[in-house]
Amino acid sequence: MSKKGNRSEQEELDNFIALYNQKKFEKILNSIESFIKEFPKNFHARNIFALTLKSQGRFEESKKIFLEIIKNNIRNPNIAYVYTNTGNLFYDLGQVDQAITFHKASIQLNPKSINSFLGLGLGFSNQGDNEKAVRAFKKGLEIDQNNENLLYNLATSLRKLERYKEAAKCYSKTINPLSKSYQLECLYLDLENDTSYEEFNNFLDKLNTQNNYNPLIASINTHSSIRFEKKNKCNFIKKPFDYIRKEKLFENKNFDEDLINKVLQDFEGSNISRKTQSLLNKGFQSSGNIFNLESLAIQKLKNIIEEKILEYRDFYKSSSEGFIKNWPKKYTIYGWLIIMNEGGNLSSHIHKEGWLSSSIYLKRPKKVDKNDGDIKFSLHGGNYVGDSKEFPEKIINIDQGDMVMFPSSIFHSTIPFDLNEQRITLAFDILPK
Ligand SMILES: [Fe+2]
Repeated sequence: MSKKGNRSEQEELDNFIALYNQKKFEKILNSIESFIKEFPKNFHARNIFALTLKSQGRFEESKKIFLEIIKNNIRNPNIAYVYTNTGNLFYDLGQVDQAITFHKASIQLNPKSINSFLGLGLGFSNQGDNEKAVRAFKKGLEIDQNNENLLYNLATSLRKLERYKEAAKCYSKTINPLSKSYQLECLYLDLENDTSYEEFNNFLDKLNTQNNYNPLIASINTHSSIRFEKKNKCNFIKKPFDYIRKEKLFENKNFDEDLINKVLQDFEGSNISRKTQSLLNKGFQSSGNIFNLESLAIQKLKNIIEEKILEYRDFYKSSSEGFIKNWPKKYTIYGWLIIMNEGGNLSSHIHKEGWLSSSIYLKRPKKVDKNDGDIKFSLHGGNYVGDSKEFPEKIINIDQGDMVMFPSSIFHSTIPFDLNEQRITLAFDILPK
């Protein structure tokens, strides 16, 4: 390796790797370009540069560098991991077909590209093919049987295939903080099959005594307390309907029809994949986090959202609910568009990994019947079994420009509409870090 000053090329590179692991991105950006100029063939450094740009939300620049490395080192097995990183970038940008292509190429170059088995499975699952996803995750586990991410995502695909007992077992082997909530859900849904009420209830009690603040655990607590007529011991939120709040965004000076049109134009002009999903009838949704798109309009909307989240938190500041008292100190805002056509609707669901969820109505059809296209909240939904018990419901009227915020634990759905007009919603979750 060549020498630069007193440090060798390798030492310099190791230093960049250390800085990256310590998340000292500014420091990397200050000096990595001159290093690359001096050692232009060092693709490891270019890879770190691309990863650093990605961490700063500079996705397009990041993509360009990854693609350059690949172009200049075609079929070099040593850059299999760069293909993996490129696949991950495309996945984060919501370009799932591309992501899959790069992960497959990585595995071809290096059959032990474990992170590409992960990326491949995630891509297939995103496309709704969980059978294929299970096969990809299992192939990865043949290389490392204890890989946390592979186990967790295998469990998730098994759950989506309604193989609840297997999924619960798989979740129990991982330490991902969300695993416990999904394990609980699998046991709850498996009550109709192999799981006994005692097994489910013991696990629920255990989670409640551990003070887990999680929307899915909350939802199951509330649902099962109504279904089995027992006390709700949930510590996330006990009265979720009191925390549904509607804002009129047109009252904000930065929000207008022009911003809505620009947001939609920027989405149309992007390469974000559109995915259908089983809950969504006559419509599609965007893949990935819409806020990763480098669009002025979308960033402007994000600023408005950030303000509204703070106002929401402040409005409920005297509440004693765990949902407010344990508000995450750090969170990511993860958003997506839902575009529904005539006769479209979205079946009832909850946002299992959120904390606070929200829908912003960018376009909505005119009403013919009283509640066309409105949002309905309920404490019952999904594929949960209600045993004919009565679960509370609440319908919120929606106008264009409305923003509805609510705890992620509440089931919600849209009321179908028949007019030949689109209903476009931007939904987002705040995800605790
Ligand atoms: Fe939703």
